[in-house]
Amino acid sequence: MSPPSTPPRVLAGNLLVGLLLAVIAVGLLYLQPSDGTWLTISGHPRWWAAGIALSAWLAMCAGIVWKHRVPHPRENAGESWLIAWASQTGFARQLAEASAEALRANGHAARCMPLERITTATLAGARRALFIVSTTGEGDAPDHALAFLHGPMAHAEPLPQLRHAVLALGDHDYAQFCAFGRRLDAWLASRGATAMFERIDVDNAAPAAIERWQRQLERLGARTEAIEWEAPFAPWSLRERRELNPGARNGAVHALSLQPAEGRLPHWQAGDIAQIRPCNAIAAVDRWLADAAFDGNAPIGVEGVSTLREHLFHQQLPAADAWRGRPLPALLTALEPLPQREYSIASIPDGGTLDLLVRAVGAADGTPGLGSGWLCRHMAVGDTTDLRIRSNPGFHPPATDVPMILIGNGTGLAGLRAHLQARSAAGAPRKWLLFGERHAATDMYFADDIRAWQADGTLARFDFALSRDSGHRHHVQDALREAGDELRRWIADGAALYVCGSLQGMAPGVDAVLDEVLGPGQREALLLDGRYRRDVY
Ligand SMILES: Cc1cc2nc3c(=O)[nH]c(=O)nc-3n(C[C@H](O)[C@H](O)[C@H](O)COP(=O)(O)OP(=O)(O)OC[C@H]3O[C@@H](n4cnc5c(N)ncnc54)[C@H](O)[C@@H]3O)c2cc1C
Ligand SMILES: Cc1cc2nc3c(=O)[nH]c(=O)nc-3n(C[C@H](O)[C@H](O)[C@H](O)COP(=O)(O)O)c2cc1C
Repeated sequence: MSPPSTPPRVLAGNLLVGLLLAVIAVGLLYLQPSDGTWLTISGHPRWWAAGIALSAWLAMCAGIVWKHRVPHPRENAGESWLIAWASQTGFARQLAEASAEALRANGHAARCMPLERITTATLAGARRALFIVSTTGEGDAPDHALAFLHGPMAHAEPLPQLRHAVLALGDHDYAQFCAFGRRLDAWLASRGATAMFERIDVDNAAPAAIERWQRQLERLGARTEAIEWEAPFAPWSLRERRELNPGARNGAVHALSLQPAEGRLPHWQAGDIAQIRPCNAIAAVDRWLADAAFDGNAPIGVEGVSTLREHLFHQQLPAADAWRGRPLPALLTALEPLPQREYSIASIPDGGTLDLLVRAVGAADGTPGLGSGWLCRHMAVGDTTDLRIRSNPGFHPPATDVPMILIGNGTGLAGLRAHLQARSAAGAPRKWLLFGERHAATDMYFADDIRAWQADGTLARFDFALSRDSGHRHHVQDALREAGDELRRWIADGAALYVCGSLQGMAPGVDAVLDEVLGPGQREALLLDGRYRRDVY
C-alpha cells in the first residue's frame, strides 16, 4: 500500500550515474584525434548528437522525478484529515486505512482511528473528516462504536467548523439499509457540519460505489490509484471436504480444507474471515445456454476467460426466456458478476490448511444456496476457488494471559475452533467452550479436536447444549445461564467473551443472559472494554 514515490536513494543513484556519464564524456573528448575526424558524422560534429541525447535523457529523468514527487505535507495540507471508522467484520476499517493512505500519498496529513476513540474534543478540533462506517445487527452500529454513541453522539456541541463526508457500508437485503451511516450523517448535519459531498451508500461491497468514493477523494486531493483498496482474490484449491453430520435434517455441515493453488500459505489470525467468489454449477450454466439458445463456445473477448460458457460460471444468470434470440454483445453488457460470500476461518496457519465449516443451505424449492452450494456441492476436491482473507481485528484474540469464554452455535464453531487452536499453540491458560446444536448423535463438529482439548486440559470446561434431544429446548444461552456462578467468577478474573454463530436467536439470547447474570450495565462495560466480541451472522 505504499505510495509511488522517488526515494532519495534512487534519486542519488540517478545523479551519480549522470555524473559518471559526464566524466566519461569529458574523458572521451580528450581522446579525440587532433585532426578532428573522430567527432564528425558526414561533416557534423558528433558532440551535437551526444548533447541532444544527453539533454533528452536529463529531460526524461526530470519527468520521472516530477511525476513521482511526494509533495511536502505543508504543500497541500493546511489542516490534517481525521478518518474515523466503525466496522464489525473489518471492511470499513480496511477502506478507512486505504483512504488515509490515499490522502497521505499526495502529501496530506491524515489520522485514522476507530469511532470509539473520537471524543467531543477531537471533533471540535477537526476541520475535515471522513466517516467510514458499516451497519450490523438490525440497523445497529458496530459493537466497538458504543463509546461514540454514548459520548459525542449523545452530547456533542455544534460543529460548524467541520467539513465531512460519509461512506456508509450495508446490504440491501437487510430491512434497514445502511442505517448507522444514515444516522451518523443526519447527526453531523444536525450539529451544523457541512457535507463536502453527498453520503455514499455501498450495497454489499459494490465496486461502483467504492469507485465513486475514490473519485470524490481525488477531487479533494487524494491520490488513489496506487493504493490497494482490497486484497486481490487468488485461486485456492480444495484439498478435502467431509460431511460432519450425515443424517441431520437441518442442513449438511461440511468441513473444508483449502490451500493456495500456487505459493505458500499466507498469514492470518484467529478471527479472520475468508471471502470467496462462488461460481454457478456447470449443469446450471449448460441448462441456461440451452434454454436461451446461445453458443457456449462462442469466443467473447472478455479478459481472463475464453468462451461464453466459462464467463457464465462467474455471472448471475438472468431469465433465459428473456434472452432467447437476442445478440451476444447485449448479453455481455447486461451480465452482472456473482456476489461474494464470507466464512469465518476455522483454523490457524500452523495446521497447513485454511479450514471452513459450512452449512449447505438452499431455497424452499431445493435450489442450493450460491456460496454454500458452490463450496459443499458443485466444487470437487482438487478444484480451485477464488478466495482472499480479510483481517477482522474486532474478533482477534485477546492477550495470551486473558481467560476466554467461547460461546457459539452451529457453524459458529468455526471461528471458535481457530481461537482454541491459537490459544492451545500459545499455551494460553483457561478456556471455556459453550457450544449449542440440535442432536448429540450428529452435531458435535470437530469432535476429535474437542475431546483432545478436554483430555489435555486446553479446555477447562466444555458445555454442549442440545436443543432437540430432550423434551425441552436447551440452547447455548440456557447453558450459560445455568453456569451463572462460574460465569461471574470468570468475568471477575478478567475473562473475555467471544461469541460466534447465529445473529437470530443465539446472539440476543446471550445478551439477555449476560444482563441477567452479570447485572445492569455490565455487558455494556465489557463491550466498552473490548472484552465482549462477536462474529455473528
Ligand atoms: C462474517 C460472516 C461469517 C460467516 N461465517 C460462516 C461460516 O463459518 N459458515 C457458514 O456456513 N456460513 C457463514 N456465514 C454465512 C455465509 O456467508 C452465507 O450467508 C451462507 O453460506 C448462505 O449463503 P448462500 O450463498 O449459500 O445462500 P444464498 O444463495 O444467499 O441463499 C439461498 C437460500 O438459502 C437461504 N439461507 C441463506 N442463509 C441461510 C441460513 N443461514 N440458514 C438457512 N437458510 C439460509 C436463503 O433464504 C435462500 O432461500 C458467515 C457470514 C458472515 C457475514
Ligand atoms: C450480522 C450482520 C448484520 C447486518 N445488518 C445490516 C443492516 O441492518 N443493514 C445493512 O444495511 N447492512 C447490514 N449488514 C451488512 C454489512 O453492513 C455489510 O456487509 C458491510 O459491508 C460490513 O462491513 P464491516 O465489515 O465493516 O462491518 C449486516 C451484515 C451482517 C454480517
